Amino acid sequence: MLGIREMKALIVFATRYGATALTSQEIAKTLREENFEVKVIDAKKEKVKDISEFELVIVGGGLKMGKWTKESDEFLKNFQKELAQKKLAIFVSSAMKSLFERQGKTEDFQKIKKTHLEDAASMYQLHPIALGLFGGVWDKNKMGLIFRRTLDTLMKQFEEAGFNETSPGLIDTRDIEEIRKWTKELTIKALQ
Ligand SMILES: Cc1cc2nc3c(=O)[nH]c(=O)nc-3n(C[C@H](O)[C@H](O)[C@H](O)COP(=O)(O)O)c2cc1C
Repeated sequence: MLGIREMKALIVFATRYGATALTSQEIAKTLREENFEVKVIDAKKEKVKDISEFELVIVGGGLKMGKWTKESDEFLKNFQKELAQKKLAIFVSSAMKSLFERQGKTEDFQKIKKTHLEDAASMYQLHPIALGLFGGVWDKNKMGLIFRRTLDTLMKQFEEAGFNETSPGLIDTRDIEEIRKWTKELTIKALQ
C-alpha cells in the first residue's frame, strides 16, 4: 500500500470560458495540501501521451450547448482502457446547475448530473469513484453577439437568483468550498 505522500494524481482539463481551468487549479491546490503529487494538463495546449505513472486521474470539462469541452471528452475516449484500471474522478463546470439549484429546480439539476456525468462515464464503460458537478462562468466579454443577446435574459435570472457580476459582464457561479470539500472526500476514496 502506498503512503499518502507517494500518491500521484493527474488532472486533465479543457475549458472554453475559463471555469474548468480555475476549478482544476483549486482541486490541484487541495490535493497538494493533502500531500498528493499533482500534475495538471490543459488538454487544449498539451497532448497527453502516457498516464501510466498516475494512480488517480481527474478529468474535467465545461458544458456548452449540452456538450462537454471536446478535448476532455476525447481524453476519456482515447484513454478509456487505461482509465478503467485507475482511480478516476470526472467533473463538469455548469453555470446552469447553479441556477437550477438556487431556483429549487431539482429535476433539471439531476438531469445535468445524469446526462453529463453518469451517462458520460458509462458511454466509455468507466466507473469513476467520484462525480463532480460544479458551477461555471458567464463571461459576456468572451461571447459572440448572438449568444450575448440570447444570454441577456439568462443574466437577469442569475441576478435574481443572487449571482452578481464580479467584474463587468462576468458572473462566476462556482462555489470554492464545494470544490474543496469534494476534493477532500475524493482523497479519502482514492486512498481506500
Ligand atoms: C454559448 C453557451 C452555451 C452554454 N450552454 C450550457 C449548457 O448547455 N449547459 C450548462 O450547464 N451550461 C451552459 N453554459 C454555461 C457554462 O456552463 C459555463 O460557461 C461554464 O463556465 C463552461 O465551462 P468553461 O468555462 O470551462 O468553458 C453555456 C455557456 C455559453 C456561453
